[in-house]
Amino acid sequence: MSTQRLLQLSDCHITADADTQLRGYDTHELLRKLLEQIKKRDRHFHALLLSGDLSDRGSAESYQRLNALLSFCKKPIYALPGNHDQLLEMRDQLRKIAQCVHSADLGTWRLLMLNSQQAGKTEGYLSEDELSRLKLWLDHGKNIPSLVAVHHPPCSIHSAWMDAINLQNGDELLDIVKSHHQVKAISFGHVHQAFDQTIHGVRLLGTPSTCFQFTPERDEFDIDDKPPGYRWFELHDNGEFDTDVTWLGD
Ligand SMILES: [Fe+2]
Repeated sequence: MSTQRLLQLSDCHITADADTQLRGYDTHELLRKLLEQIKKRDRHFHALLLSGDLSDRGSAESYQRLNALLSFCKKPIYALPGNHDQLLEMRDQLRKIAQCVHSADLGTWRLLMLNSQQAGKTEGYLSEDELSRLKLWLDHGKNIPSLVAVHHPPCSIHSAWMDAINLQNGDELLDIVKSHHQVKAISFGHVHQAFDQTIHGVRLLGTPSTCFQFTPERDEFDIDDKPPGYRWFELHDNGEFDTDVTWLGD
């Protein structure tokens, strides 16, 4: 086995057609540019993780457009839903390129993916089923270094408006993770910014959006002037890892 390089792309907010922009941003074009950069400068990755809000309104057309953008990728792609997604449509339209699964093994590591979506709501919540499945995986894989991925952040990101729509039972997730030391990090999207904080020995990592970013540590909604970005992980055989964010133009 060798170090596994995982790229996390999040909050693409792809629209149904080329004429529809979002807050003046062409989300499809921004993701296309970011993927061009990845193809040129970061092409030796092993897998992609798509951490939700892949579509802006959950339409079949938006997922078809995403499908076309990612069809170059011959590596495994794992996808989990965000509050903007329609899970059934997402699964159906992305089935040829991406797997909407609960777990995947990457070298010596395990990627555990959670669905924090609540129908009709912006904030997230982990159902009993999601939490007990996670606990079961962790109870049976005590020696497997693990990365947990979920759309909503389980912690405050020091931004009042964003904290109000985070993972409403994030404490329950953190309680499970605290008692399973093989979990090295929880990585999320939703926040449209880079975030990196360690709580109880676990890295809590926010991944920027592939379109526009929100200004960190603001109590009210505010768009930042940061470019699109993505997070990369180097998952080493010995259970250690490196991670950072790469921005468009880096
Ligand atoms: Fe979101």
